[in-house]
Amino acid sequence: GYVGSGAPSARPEGVVMAGLARLEYRGYDSAGLAVVTEDPTHVDMAKKAGKLVNLGKELAEHPLRPGTAAIGHTRWATHGAPTDANAHPHLAADGRIAIIHNGIIENYSPLRAELRSEGVRFLSDTDTEVVGHMLAREVLAGHDLVHAMRLVAARLEGAFTLLAVDSHEPRVVVGARRNSPLVVGLGEGENFLGSDVVAFIEHTRTALELGQDEVVEITPDGVSVSDYAGNPIEREPYRIDWDSEAAQKGGFSTFMDKEIHDQPTAVADTLRGRIDEHGKLKLDEGLIADSVLNSIDKIVVIACGTAAYAGLVARYAIEHWTRIPVEVELAHEFRYRDPVVNVRTLVVALSQSGETMDTIMALRHAQQQGAPVIAIVNAQGSTIARESDAVLYTRAGPEIAVASTKAFLAQITAAYLLGIYLAELRGNKFPDEIRTLLAQLDEMPGKIQRVLDSAEPVRELARSLVDEGSVLFLGRHVGYPVALEGALKLKEIAYIHAEGFAAGELKHGPIALIDEGQPVFIILPSPRGRESLHSKVISNVQEVRARGARTFVIAEEGDTEAAEHAEQVFYVPASPVLMSPLLTVVPLQIFAHELASAKGLDVDQPRNLAKSVTVE
Ligand code: G6P
Repeated sequence: GYVGSGAPSARPEGVVMAGLARLEYRGYDSAGLAVVTEDPTHVDMAKKAGKLVNLGKELAEHPLRPGTAAIGHTRWATHGAPTDANAHPHLAADGRIAIIHNGIIENYSPLRAELRSEGVRFLSDTDTEVVGHMLAREVLAGHDLVHAMRLVAARLEGAFTLLAVDSHEPRVVVGARRNSPLVVGLGEGENFLGSDVVAFIEHTRTALELGQDEVVEITPDGVSVSDYAGNPIEREPYRIDWDSEAAQKGGFSTFMDKEIHDQPTAVADTLRGRIDEHGKLKLDEGLIADSVLNSIDKIVVIACGTAAYAGLVARYAIEHWTRIPVEVELAHEFRYRDPVVNVRTLVVALSQSGETMDTIMALRHAQQQGAPVIAIVNAQGSTIARESDAVLYTRAGPEIAVASTKAFLAQITAAYLLGIYLAELRGNKFPDEIRTLLAQLDEMPGKIQRVLDSAEPVRELARSLVDEGSVLFLGRHVGYPVALEGALKLKEIAYIHAEGFAAGELKHGPIALIDEGQPVFIILPSPRGRESLHSKVISNVQEVRARGARTFVIAEEGDTEAAEHAEQVFYVPASPVLMSPLLTVVPLQIFAHELASAKGLDVDQPRNLAKSVTVE
């Protein structure tokens, strides 16, 4: 959403389209735009199924009138297919009101029945359109738009970020939120609304978060926030750490490629400045009392997708360093299981966006059981960060590509820091051991860089495998979650069937999949670690090779045995075993990226996916 007094930014429509381009990673089934002009009878509107370029073409062919304010939306379909009609905005009161929505209105059926009985005709299958007509009813009854929004939002159930405009109020955009993200960008003579600060970061780096169940009204010179009852709410603006360049491709062919190459920096930044003047690790926000952290007897990591795999990696390290049992649970499974969580359970909510609805709901469930919650989150000011008791930020910078890469490495790094913090606090490690661990972590960014610098052979391999229908990934110990993540990357962006297995599990079933020519990646543990682990995985390589598989092994530099058992070996620098996933996953990311690119696919915006899934 944008409203401005004309200068310094360009036309509202242009500002909103540029913002949408930056947010398109959140959903790209359809896109639309509404512009308020000086004409009080109706707003101008355009919307198109498909990616934002389609809307751009539509606007070029049928330009809208110059406006004073605008709202725009990119959609990831929940209710109703991704068609032109179901695209947002939705209009009501003969085009006087336009509304866009992120989330799901759970009680839309009774509300729709109510409106129908009053004679309202619906043009789409969406839950959103209901809200437009409810707003129309209130403004036609004489309320101004912000008042109407308060009345309507209070009647809605579910999750929503709503933005609305009214052609009778050409210099106003109104927003409301519950459970879905909304941030306000504060400019000079102009103000912004977006699901994420990257929407307006090229115009302003001062932002304001909206809390749960709040309504905001922006005009060119003012922002006012209130609750649904109309009580004004004061919010402190904050400065956005990211700069706008961080959200650009910077010469790379895709955001994902750029983000893969950002990884040494993402890890280094996540590590930077974590030690205070007393040599103690510090958290970014909030506090969980030492007495609480000393009394916990279990850690539960809740997360989805790649973040959950980061949790699985971290589990090995945290358990080893702290001797606290760690569970990692998919957030959407967590609360339905009636999990054993209480005041002695430290819950770690792991999320890049901080807006994944499944994770938000799991964290609330944990809080209801009295558990302290620490967030490991990338997006400043996001819902998960705000609702947790303490926050450790990953400082990966904006991640735009849907398939997560640098956030994954930063999540693992931050989780290690948490493990080291707990080990130190609870006296599991001597100070010099803590110092050694931190020094070893500090060496990781340079090592990741070396993996990036020697990645050409992986790319060549990827190009030779474009016609493959299936690729398998095997790993053991920390290599197991790396195998899962390697398979996920390939599924997500190259649409190739891929599975990650615990190498030891192979013989219990998956080995039946191995056929002549089946490509298998194996993450080989360091021979310097537990000798038996290395030789066991070597045996697994042999088992699949004997059955015709083509074996591609990720091994540590200096592992002379690896080459004897593999068609091809990709070496990564030596590192402490528990930290090795920061290196071994990188060739797999590059492999997936190159293969998807070679297939001519849209790497940054793979089909059916969205970057932050703000619905359950
Ligand atoms: C979506 C994305 C994944 C991501 C997951 C968790 O499914 O497509 O790439 O790993 O959400 O996202 P989060 O923002 O919570 O880390």
